[in-house]
Amino acid sequence: MLFYKIGSDNKICHPLLLLLAYQENLFITEVYIMNKIQSFDDYLSQYEQSKANLVKYWESIASNLEWFKKWDSAHSGDFTTTSVTWFDGAETNLSYNCLDRHLETRGEKTALIYVHNDPKKAPEHISYIQLHQRVSQFANMLKNHGVEKGDRVCFYMGMTPELMIGVLACARIGAVHSVVFGGFSAKALADRINDCEAKVLITNDWGLRGDKLIPLKNVADEALESCPSISSVIVQKSAPENVMMKDGRDYWFETENQKASTDCPAETQQSEDPLFILYTSGSTGKPKGLLHTTGGYMTYAYHTFRNVFQVEENDVYWCTADIGWITGHTYITYGPLLNGATTVMFEGVPTWPDAGRFWQIVDQLKVTHFYTAPTAIRALEAKGLDYVTPYSLESLKVLGSVGEPINEEAWEWYHKNIGKEKCPIVDTWWQTETGGIMISPLAGITETKPCYATYPLPGIFPVLMDAEGKEIVQPKAEGNLCIKHPWPGIARTIYADHNRYKETYFSTYPGYYFTGDGAKREESGMIRITGRVDDVINVSGHRIGTAEVEDAINTHEHVVESAVIGYNHPIKGQGIFAFIIPTSMDSIQENFHQELNTVVTKMIGSIAKPEKIKVVSGLPKTRSGKIMRRILRKVAEGDLANLGDTSTLLNPEIVEELIKD
Ligand code: WTA
Repeated sequence: MLFYKIGSDNKICHPLLLLLAYQENLFITEVYIMNKIQSFDDYLSQYEQSKANLVKYWESIASNLEWFKKWDSAHSGDFTTTSVTWFDGAETNLSYNCLDRHLETRGEKTALIYVHNDPKKAPEHISYIQLHQRVSQFANMLKNHGVEKGDRVCFYMGMTPELMIGVLACARIGAVHSVVFGGFSAKALADRINDCEAKVLITNDWGLRGDKLIPLKNVADEALESCPSISSVIVQKSAPENVMMKDGRDYWFETENQKASTDCPAETQQSEDPLFILYTSGSTGKPKGLLHTTGGYMTYAYHTFRNVFQVEENDVYWCTADIGWITGHTYITYGPLLNGATTVMFEGVPTWPDAGRFWQIVDQLKVTHFYTAPTAIRALEAKGLDYVTPYSLESLKVLGSVGEPINEEAWEWYHKNIGKEKCPIVDTWWQTETGGIMISPLAGITETKPCYATYPLPGIFPVLMDAEGKEIVQPKAEGNLCIKHPWPGIARTIYADHNRYKETYFSTYPGYYFTGDGAKREESGMIRITGRVDDVINVSGHRIGTAEVEDAINTHEHVVESAVIGYNHPIKGQGIFAFIIPTSMDSIQENFHQELNTVVTKMIGSIAKPEKIKVVSGLPKTRSGKIMRRILRKVAEGDLANLGDTSTLLNPEIVEELIKD
């Protein structure tokens, strides 16, 4: 539907009113399209429009946001040059668009509902006015600690409101945030801080998760022994237990924040100024610091949240992710706030004090939109309906799933018992690299089908590749999933390593972005994601590189070599199976598995612990010395009848040992 922008006050009116406006001598500055998709026909029409003129399409979306200066060039670059820009030359500020833009119309509206780990503590309602004030104060506190535009600020926190506030404060002053999930180890934290040379670290004394206290500050202290770039550590208090504070380096948030003024106008940012770095695992080497920039990410977060979830003004939207992951960045923080929504943030875990916690919160807050990961659904399903039936769940309108393929059983359980067969499920496929949702049903608009992410959003052109690296043109097909043209939300680079960015995403299929996932396409064009086709394991929706886990295991004094494989796990989606060659069979003690868990927890974090291990005298290798993971995968799955051709192995005799119990 065509709408018109009149004057400079962003008011929108219908074409019929245009004539009136014309008669009144109002100045018409620009024609643009209101892009909230209303129906499936509307979706199809927008998709066609984006196909016909991709850049114009994205310009029309971006026009819904506030820019201090319009772009000189809407888009440049492609997947051959790999240097992509969107809205170059434009000036804006993301925190301004999330907060200031709403103050007049929604100032008193609740922006954030914060739910404490402790169910006895009442949830906090923070209005747009209050959030604006707290973000401004946090921003001034960062400035007082020497943070300037472009500086990196690392967050290693529990899910406290200050994590969201701090992230928005960075965006306000042009500092680059890098959030590290609170479950990562000291070594993993240090590696990330050192890679981006962060100046300030924000942490908590303790993280509260269920009945556990996570020693965040202690872990940070250990990391900081090898982080010379950090000049200040700001510690927010969460628990009465004491922690060590180092003079001249560590400061209490509460004291520092009080010293800061609440007046902090948003800095002018260039569209391509860095916004954040977020580390994610790849198939090789150390984690990659994906860099997202301001204007394109903003446009994409705004557009995808608005269309996929179809949130209305008085709705209450809850995404259960942690801000340490991309889902928490785009769909707890930026996407909802850009759209003036009410977003819920939960400190705790789904199973404490019991497995009904999510549903108790849904009823208590009258949540309308609920977005979680298949792992959580499966874990709660396994606990039984006794934890669900005490709650009415009648406020729910839309359910979402993200992070890993959702199996049919979990989809049906979610649909029936949580959505009461009336809530559409949006199975949203996307990645840290893509910045926002790429393939997903639009709530209430797209017909859903269990396990299908369905169709791409307008402006997104997925293709499937065959074994020869060619685009498959037949509608019904299975292949490796690539994306054709750049979209505004794509990560622009791997921080300080553009060559690795090129190599990882653009070398397998030149001219295309390779996702690392496999997919099936139906005759109708509906897409089903089948999972990673590279050496990345998805454990409970968390991406873990096999190479990282192998590197950690190999540091154990009695390990010569290891190979790590993902296998189907009933709750976690995938579990980690480690095949290990020891220095000698005699060196293996009873507690070997436990020791390996300790090593992996120390090097990466407990999320990467191997569920199963098998001690072997050799690994199946090709003649060129590469581990034949296909065989290990079959062994890990127990699918011994389908090992395939093993005759080309350098050491075929090893297979017998592998399949022995
Ligand atoms: C997987 C999370 C199937 C996929 C947003 C992708 C999914 C990886 C889905 C990215 C889905 C994410 N169905 N698989 N709906 N969503 N994935 O970077 O393998 O943590 O490549 O981003 O998760 O994980 P990441």
